[in-house]
Amino acid sequence: MKIAIVTGASSGMGREFVRQIEHLYKELDEIWVIARRRERLEELQSRMLTNVRILQGDLLDDDIYEILEKLLEEKKPNVRMLVNAAGFGKKGEVKELSCREQLEMIDLNCRALTHMTKICIPYMCKGSRIVNLASAAAFCPQPSFSVYASTKSYVLSFSRSLRTELHKDGIYVTAVCPGPVDTEFFETAGKQDNPMKEATMVKPEAVVKQALIDARDGKEVSIYGAAMKATKAATKILPHRLLLDAMDKFW
Ligand SMILES: NC(=O)c1ccc[n+]([C@@H]2O[C@H](COP(=O)([O-])OP(=O)(O)OC[C@H]3O[C@@H](n4cnc5c(N)ncnc54)[C@H](OP(=O)(O)O)[C@@H]3O)[C@@H](O)[C@H]2O)c1
Repeated sequence: MKIAIVTGASSGMGREFVRQIEHLYKELDEIWVIARRRERLEELQSRMLTNVRILQGDLLDDDIYEILEKLLEEKKPNVRMLVNAAGFGKKGEVKELSCREQLEMIDLNCRALTHMTKICIPYMCKGSRIVNLASAAAFCPQPSFSVYASTKSYVLSFSRSLRTELHKDGIYVTAVCPGPVDTEFFETAGKQDNPMKEATMVKPEAVVKQALIDARDGKEVSIYGAAMKATKAATKILPHRLLLDAMDKFW
């Protein structure tokens, strides 16, 4: 049985990955979707041609990993693609945000993504893909988004080194690094009062389409749009101290 597994499938980019995967990977028997909101997953399931298996759960709890491991052990599927899309960000200075919020960001964005990856790799083979949702926030530290940007640096770094480790097995890892995307993300993150972020906001459909093409082509990093490609170039050329001071002043 050939499957794809998508976390964060109940909204935004995770949901869009599920919707688009079946067009690019026509051989899939099932797509396994993970998130906390069952009704959202059921609504998605009802729209799909491919069989969707719902694994409702909280990736901050151990139970969901036990359920997934048991199911993998029982079905022994060939995992063609793992998309780690579950994640959240919370804007605010470290001294302002609660300890819980900041630690949960680290737990979901880094720990859960790593746990999911570790569980799924034994069921992957030549040609399988791992797609990790990092962010353009991975390119440079961001004051007032310190923990979030740091978690995404982890995702980018982890994805790049894992890609090198898995190269000999023919498994490709792609880190997706979007700028602002129009999803429910900002309901949690907090209002975007930054005009540059408003101006560069893109639709999840476009980011995911590009990410799936880049993953198919075995690219290390997927960046959608000229604005984010320019951002990446700027963070390579300009001293980070200069960028940090500018962000602190104007954001
Ligand atoms: N939107 C942006 O501007 C942007 C930019 C760059 C990168 N990203 C990254 O892209 C990824 C997807 O974000 P999005 O924009 O699509 O946001 P979103 O619409 O808020 O989706 C987040 C998904 O994560 C799931 N999730 C959150 N907490 C969870 C938990 N504890 N356990 C299981 N699932 C959980 C949510 O489902 P439930 O609530 O149903 O559990 C939801 O499906 C994230 O990693 C985000 O950091 C977003």
